[in-house]
Amino acid sequence: MQNSLKHVAIIMDGNGRWAQKRGLPRLSGHEAGARATRKIVELVKDRRIKYLTIYAFSSENWRRPVEEVEGLWKLLDRFIDEEVGRLKETGVNFNVIGDISKLSDRLQAKIRHTIELTKTNAAVFLNIALNYGGRDEIVRALNAAIKERSGPIDEDGFRKYLDTSGIPDPDLLIRTGGEWRISNFMLWQIAYTEIYFTDILWPDFDGKALDDAIGWFATRQRRYGMTSEQVES
Ligand code: FPP
Repeated sequence: MQNSLKHVAIIMDGNGRWAQKRGLPRLSGHEAGARATRKIVELVKDRRIKYLTIYAFSSENWRRPVEEVEGLWKLLDRFIDEEVGRLKETGVNFNVIGDISKLSDRLQAKIRHTIELTKTNAAVFLNIALNYGGRDEIVRALNAAIKERSGPIDEDGFRKYLDTSGIPDPDLLIRTGGEWRISNFMLWQIAYTEIYFTDILWPDFDGKALDDAIGWFATRQRRYGMTSEQVES
């Protein structure tokens, strides 16, 4: 049976090394990364994949040098300004996961405005992870659940409190940049996700690289705890 691919999640790593290789400042690498991000939204949409979640700023990225942190937020702010029209027109439903209460009021308002503006779009659902950490998300969900409910909670009950409520779990997680780790990304949601690591640095990740990942995903047998005989029957 063919694997259905509804949701791709991406850890976009390698911007810094891409810049370093060219003797450029790290922020130029992030700018090139933002250009790759723009393209990937289109490529995912063209391939009729419904959900794309990208890790743009982790709850741990605040530990980077202050100029880089400020530069990244400026870039994200500009990305929204420059992309909002195109997202709206091309059917992209814009959403954010992560704790955006820590961002400036101005950026929060811009994010809310973009979510509102694209809320009826349904060609592709783009989730940008901003100030996102998987453990932080689980703890926030837990606190929200405790506040609202009493007594035990099951998995489906708990899911509703996650930032990804209503979004299917990723089928495929891609990490670029050659590292083999998860870095606190979607810890709950990737329980049965197929994970693809590539050495390609994020700014170089293109349509061919995406198709290679999708091709690899197609070869995976998804068993969800069952035996291969059960899955094949
Ligand atoms: C990791 O590369 C990348 C990030 C921490 C930020 C991701 C941001 C972008 C792709 C650009 C902005 C995104 C949007 C949506 C506008 P790294 O700096 O850790 O690379 P390195 O491991 O080579 O140093």
